[in-house]
Amino acid sequence: MSKVIFIVGLLLLQNSIAAASTNVVADVEAKNISEGAYLFRRFCSLCHGVNGMGEGPLALVIDDYPMTNLLTSNKANSREDILEIIKNGSQTNSRESFMPPWNSAFNEEELNQLTDFVVFLKNDPAEGTKLLRNQSNRIEPNIRHGELLYKTYCTRCHGDKGKGDGKMARIVKSPPPFDLTKSRQNDSYLELIITTGGEIMQRSPQMPPWGDELSRHDILSVIQYIKSLRE
Ligand code: HEC
Ligand code: HEC
Repeated sequence: MSKVIFIVGLLLLQNSIAAASTNVVADVEAKNISEGAYLFRRFCSLCHGVNGMGEGPLALVIDDYPMTNLLTSNKANSREDILEIIKNGSQTNSRESFMPPWNSAFNEEELNQLTDFVVFLKNDPAEGTKLLRNQSNRIEPNIRHGELLYKTYCTRCHGDKGKGDGKMARIVKSPPPFDLTKSRQNDSYLELIITTGGEIMQRSPQMPPWGDELSRHDILSVIQYIKSLRE
């Protein structure tokens, strides 16, 4: 009897291990596809369009531009062919010009992520284009994203409304945290001081550099937000 229970237990255990590892595989796949969508939106949309349907600005302005609609094109169908053309561009497989090679721009992992995404897009255009559309908040600076970052990193000195009256203003003095509602600096100055900190800009070293912690996209988003606080 106990032996039977043991075996049943073992079977259940095996099943749950199998289920867990399928989830891990699915998670990795989903992550690759969405990273691929992000890269595609940044680097490929110029020609293939924001929906992958060839409506990219470059393709539209150049006469006789080759077909860049990935949904209807059927030259590269297998995953292998797609990876190959992304890596080496259209010089290979006696294709016409224009599709640039990407093997020096991306590492192996990124090339595979792009390929996973293109395969996904071809198989499921509805979900694929939806995924692409969702990437725009990672691409264009986004004020909501900026607000969140501001509240996480900047409020403690610059205060909730940017008045320079955060909790740490009690110890950050001469000069105090800048009253951002009074700031009139342009975007490139703001980007510089936020990225590199006050000291390099010959301002107070108490304004920390954020370039290591925040991406450029983060910083451009924060700039949108702090400009909205201006009076
Ligand atoms: C400068 C414009 C341009 C850019 C940028 C570009 N492509 Fe292309 N791509 C093309 C053109 C043109 C073709 C069609 C070439 C042909 O038919 O020989 C093509 C073809 C392809 C194909 C083959 C389609 C098929 O089934 O025939 C794939 C896959 C592809 N591109 C993926 C990408 C990816 C991924 C990126 C971004 C990393 C990208 N492309 C960036 C212009 C571009
Ligand atoms: C530890 C306190 C502290 C933190 C945290 C901090 N700052 Fe500052 N910041 C300062 C101080 C102090 C100054 C004033 C420097 C000066 O006037 O020399 C300043 C100045 C600035 C300026 C210059 C404004 C202008 O118009 O000249 C900007 C922009 C700025 N901070 C943005 C930010 C952002 C965005 C964050 C969060 C990512 C942040 N700061 C986090 C202390 C801080």
